[in-house]
Amino acid sequence: MKPFFIIGNWKLNGNTIFVKNYINKIKNFLNKKKLNYCKISIAPSYTYLYLSNIYLNNTKIALTAQNVDINLSGSFTGEISINMLKDIGVKYVIIGHSERRIFHKETNEYISKKFHIIKSNDLIPILCIGETKLEKDMNQTKDICAKQIDVILNDQGVQAFNNTIIAYEPIWAIGSGKSANPIEVQNIHKFIRDYIAQKDLNISKNIIIQYGGSINENNIDMFIKQKDINGFLIGKASLTAENFISIVKKAEKIISSIH
Ligand code: 13P
Repeated sequence: MKPFFIIGNWKLNGNTIFVKNYINKIKNFLNKKKLNYCKISIAPSYTYLYLSNIYLNNTKIALTAQNVDINLSGSFTGEISINMLKDIGVKYVIIGHSERRIFHKETNEYISKKFHIIKSNDLIPILCIGETKLEKDMNQTKDICAKQIDVILNDQGVQAFNNTIIAYEPIWAIGSGKSANPIEVQNIHKFIRDYIAQKDLNISKNIIIQYGGSINENNIDMFIKQKDINGFLIGKASLTAENFISIVKKAEKIISSIH
């Protein structure tokens, strides 16, 4: 069985004290409770990855980066390469987040290059996809998701999706306080899995499809119970260790009651 993968995307938040306290709290929690169904990861800003890696030493908490450059080295002022991330213990890299698509004008083609550089250096991409409110209202969600996946499928083939993560994050649900309907999310996740399955059944079965968008401890039940929802990418509710731990605890309980 795939672990239910919960990642806290801290976005542009945190400082050294925050990192230390947060990781200590999670470590204390994990010392008391063994996780049977969930896997967890945190995604701090670049500046705190190194420190986080030191604090996370000897734990099962994986380290995720929020971004990466498409180049390995050279004259690219202000950028961070995949080798640098690998060097400090990063395992997963978020790409295609709507906040980067919107505020940094990242295109599907550019995101595909990031996907390639991550895969070819043996790290795991978390490809964020999802539609705007207008696209949802126009019934275009599936087309948009397919289009966001297509560029990578066409550039790199379905094999590139082996051992990767797709995070479905409807843009209108992010930070809105109102999550999407879990049944509708299941429907989209199934569409995504079937879309990959048309090219390769095994890869589609193994792919982890996370949901992100206003997840909190009070609304996770129905999401977890859906067959094709394999984890969460959480923003705001991951910004205190207490909330993040509550979500993980509750997820463990719900999943244990299903099995
Ligand atoms: P919120 O959980 O704050 O809606 O953010 C979701 C998100 O963008 C995670 O990447």
